[in-house]
Amino acid sequence: MVKALCGIILATMTAISAAAQSRSVTFDQGQQVFRLDGGNMTYAFGVNARGELEQMYWGGRLAAGDTFSRPVAEREWVSFDDSYTNTPQEYAGWGAGLFVEPALKITFADGNRDLVLHYESHTIRTDGVEVVLKDIERPVYVTLHYTVDAATGILARSATIENRGNEPVTVEQAAAAAWRLPPAHYMLNYLTGRWAGEWNLTQETLDAGARVIESRRGSTGHQANPWFALQQGNTDEDHGEVWFGALAWSGSWRITVERDQLDAVRVTGGFNPFDFGYVLHPGEKLETPVFYGGYSNQGLGGASRLMHKFELTRILPHTAATEQLPMPKPRPVIYNSWEATEMNVNEAGQMALAEKAAALGVDRFVMDDGWFGQRNTDHAGLGDWYVNPEKFPHGLKPLIDKVHSLGMSFGLWVEPEMVNPDSDLYRKHPDWVLNFPGRPRTEQRNQLVLNLARPDVRDYVLGFLDKLLTENDIAFLKWDYNRNWSEPGWDQMPANEQKAVYVDFTRNLYAILAELRQRHPNLEIESCSGGGGRVDLGILRYTDEVWPSDNTDPFDRLSQQDGFTYAYTPQIMMAWATDSPHWLNNRSTSLTYRMLSAMQGSLGIGANIAKWSDEETATAKRLIAAYHQVQSTIVQGDLYRLISPRNGSEFSATQTVNSDKSQSVVFAFIHSTQQGRGFPILKLKGLDPARRYAVSPIEGKLRSGSPAAASGAWWMNHGMEMDEDFRGDFKAAAFRLDAVQQ
Ligand code: GLA
Repeated sequence: MVKALCGIILATMTAISAAAQSRSVTFDQGQQVFRLDGGNMTYAFGVNARGELEQMYWGGRLAAGDTFSRPVAEREWVSFDDSYTNTPQEYAGWGAGLFVEPALKITFADGNRDLVLHYESHTIRTDGVEVVLKDIERPVYVTLHYTVDAATGILARSATIENRGNEPVTVEQAAAAAWRLPPAHYMLNYLTGRWAGEWNLTQETLDAGARVIESRRGSTGHQANPWFALQQGNTDEDHGEVWFGALAWSGSWRITVERDQLDAVRVTGGFNPFDFGYVLHPGEKLETPVFYGGYSNQGLGGASRLMHKFELTRILPHTAATEQLPMPKPRPVIYNSWEATEMNVNEAGQMALAEKAAALGVDRFVMDDGWFGQRNTDHAGLGDWYVNPEKFPHGLKPLIDKVHSLGMSFGLWVEPEMVNPDSDLYRKHPDWVLNFPGRPRTEQRNQLVLNLARPDVRDYVLGFLDKLLTENDIAFLKWDYNRNWSEPGWDQMPANEQKAVYVDFTRNLYAILAELRQRHPNLEIESCSGGGGRVDLGILRYTDEVWPSDNTDPFDRLSQQDGFTYAYTPQIMMAWATDSPHWLNNRSTSLTYRMLSAMQGSLGIGANIAKWSDEETATAKRLIAAYHQVQSTIVQGDLYRLISPRNGSEFSATQTVNSDKSQSVVFAFIHSTQQGRGFPILKLKGLDPARRYAVSPIEGKLRSGSPAAASGAWWMNHGMEMDEDFRGDFKAAAFRLDAVQQ
């Protein structure tokens, strides 16, 4: 207690307000309360009389003059639920009497496992605050980092754990942050899936106990995504309070959503503590990932619009060309031949496809798997990153030159972290893979995982990629990762330090991506992992787009895209129109339907265009041209999910509105209609009620008698009516609205 107060006196006491940016960060010295305001959000926590950092408020923005009294630690409820457990701490060490999820758990060299963190000092910045905590007796320091985004009110939280003692300590569990929500009844939303079936929005009542959402796979995973949203009471797509968050980590992660015995709700997330153990030698530090959190009082739709804006303006990387812009430009429309040719690539075939692609109006040509080593099937070649001389006798240059001469940029598929046992690399360096010596090495897709945590492996991967990019004019890498970990041993390290692989692998991955971008400032990268297995705010700091799923069926994609957009912006959501019937589920659909489904995100073409009829070519060309005209509204505008395709819905519809409300794009899809049940009237959202908008079709017709132009009020209140011919199976329509002079 005395120590804590000393810390308070030593601490920076200035309150810095940046009202102009709609952000303020203050410390009330008298009440010992920190307050962060941004967007429509206020977050407050303080130092209680015991010296613990206690959460106080997270919700809608309060008035500047509103103040909080010093927090009072919760009382002991009964002997079984003591004050240390009941007090909502910002970052609780496992010690004293903590029974709820700890933020930090440490074992000391002498066997002590008791850790109680008290406030030491703080530093206020214009955009956030750093608060230092320390164990009540031992020199373990934890610095909590908070940054608040002025526009969206999204908070970034993380922790640095430092051992200033003379003996090593082992960190067994380290969260980035713990969030506390006001006691209430909540619906938990999260995203689950499987290969080719990612992005299912899963909703359930938050009952007593702990709900764990996690990956133990060494990477983000298809099965669950590190995002949550908790909605209160009657919240829906448009109304009510929602607290949401996303963890920026592409290794094993865990988010624990807990409703405890007193109905207090906490969300704790960070490194997955399963099989975790990070040794900190004297003087060493461990940085946790960042856990972002936000608040909206406009339902799940409002929450996702904040996430999209935040990702576009604060997370996604820039190239040299976009550095000065507030957000990266919309993605180039790409062609990728994977579904057309698989690994059967060669110079003549790719050149022929490039000619066809250019004629469609495609901006970028991407060659997928199969161009390197002895890569004719997925049994061989990974690790040998030289151009296959039979397929490309003159190297990649002739193809790249051809692509450039057709006015497109060139992209290439790589899978840098993997090796096939049938490769020169593995024959030379069998010790480079994750393994426990003497134990089997489990193969998945006939491949093993290179241990990127090893400095020599990291240098090899950086080295071959840098060489590839230096020797060839490559604008874009599709960076794939086609299996999860097994036998995650790191036998170069002492036995008790091998688990550091869970941290160091991912850190090295980020370091390689950052270094490549630094050395090649125009390079763009897609994060792919057999589809959507590595999508999170960590990898998105270094990658410009993601491949959401290997499932390109246009109907399946509608619900995947719906789920995806709860957490991630359509800008990064690559979507290809491919061949029909679809290879996965044998569904036949029209090219128009396939194109419009893909146009909800960042469009690509993945069909065998060599076989397209003139009519198909003309349809795709027309729709790519129409897409280019409105692309920035679709991928960077405010998204309204008007009708969800989930739960067997016959219909679905989305709408996006650009930032100055001068343009809007509407997509409408039919799964199957029944007689007498036509497409519902679409009441649009987010327009300026007083402005007049002219409507024009991208595809389809409105009901006869519909106005060619009307006010925003008309479109939002009266709504948009589809033509009565808009019926049948797998039908799609799209319209643009442009503001016009009155
Ligand atoms: C993964 C990707 C596909 C394709 C193949 C190539 O499955 O998700 O798009 O690149 O690898 O082997």
